[in-house]
Amino acid sequence: MMYNNMYRIMFDRRFENEDDPLFVKLKALNGERSRLAQSFEYNYGDFIPILRPFLRGYLRICKEVKDRRLSLFKNYFVEERKKLASTKPMDNAGLRCAIDHILDAERKGEINEDNVLYIVENINVAAIETTLWSIEWGLAELVNHPEVQRKVREELDVVLGMGVQITEPDIPRLPYLQAVVKETLRLRMAIPLLVPHMNLHDAKLGGYDIPAESKILVNAWWLANNPQHWKRPEEFRPERFLEEEAKVEANGNDFRYIPFGVGRRSCPGIILALPILAITLGRLVQNFELLPPAGMDKIDTAEKGGQFSLHILKHYTVVCKPRSTTL
Ligand code: HEM
Repeated sequence: MMYNNMYRIMFDRRFENEDDPLFVKLKALNGERSRLAQSFEYNYGDFIPILRPFLRGYLRICKEVKDRRLSLFKNYFVEERKKLASTKPMDNAGLRCAIDHILDAERKGEINEDNVLYIVENINVAAIETTLWSIEWGLAELVNHPEVQRKVREELDVVLGMGVQITEPDIPRLPYLQAVVKETLRLRMAIPLLVPHMNLHDAKLGGYDIPAESKILVNAWWLANNPQHWKRPEEFRPERFLEEEAKVEANGNDFRYIPFGVGRRSCPGIILALPILAITLGRLVQNFELLPPAGMDKIDTAEKGGQFSLHILKHYTVVCKPRSTTL
């Protein structure tokens, strides 16, 4: 689903099913990149320079995967779109998807061909897995908290009416659903250490000297789960965002809660991620009762942490029991 969302936005393309050979190839190569990035080899050379020579094999594989991914994006998506654009006149109204605008910037000389490919590469990394992991966490928490699920369903039925499917403009009228999304991103933060930053100049912070060009990791998960600053942070309790934390938004208006980072390098995809999460979880709850897999009372929410990611350790197939709308 996330691949189709993003590839529709980027390239006006979709995959018919999970066996689509191009989708299979894309998913395997993106998965391989992800596996390499989760590996501890990823950056131990940054911290222990003496070990760098041992990274040669790993870096060679990284380069191979990068080259294969870039040529896949180029040959199957970017070039295709260029060809299509050249067969019909492209006035401003003809720009239909994100890549048309990016290619337009390339034509005007604002960016070069490599920039185009790296933008595509970046979206594959930043947009798809992060949102996917968060949807999976949201589902797991809804299954494990049937009372929360019931409240979401009730809100949707009362505000939209039975059987009226949620769409983006409805979201501001659904505070409880929004609180569920926020609570999912608080407790199960997809990028718990954000993305490494670097300070250009010497700095002082909390009495510490931070030399210029240090690699800075922000423990955003701890900021959002520190019991000194949150009431019973270990509980999945969306109500906190309607009660004691009602003013806290995901856009960084409170430094205790920055699942998308904050400031100029914060996540530009927040405007897409939040509605996708609300609509996906909302639609599922509207139409189905979400239950644990047969023979289980709860989903095991043990976590798997990578260098920069936090996702569920075991993947389950949730039981979706269709809801009778005549109830
Ligand atoms: C639940 C989903 C998502 C989460 C939790 C998330 C989280 C983040 C975080 C924590 C960062 C780093 C911010 C920092 O270090 O200060 C980031 C960067 C970024 N995100 Fe997202 N993101 C999500 C979805 C998306 C989507 C859907 C897109 C694109 C459509 C996207 C595009 C990006 C890009 C391009 C960057 C790099 C920005 C830069 O370095 O200037 N993200 N995201």
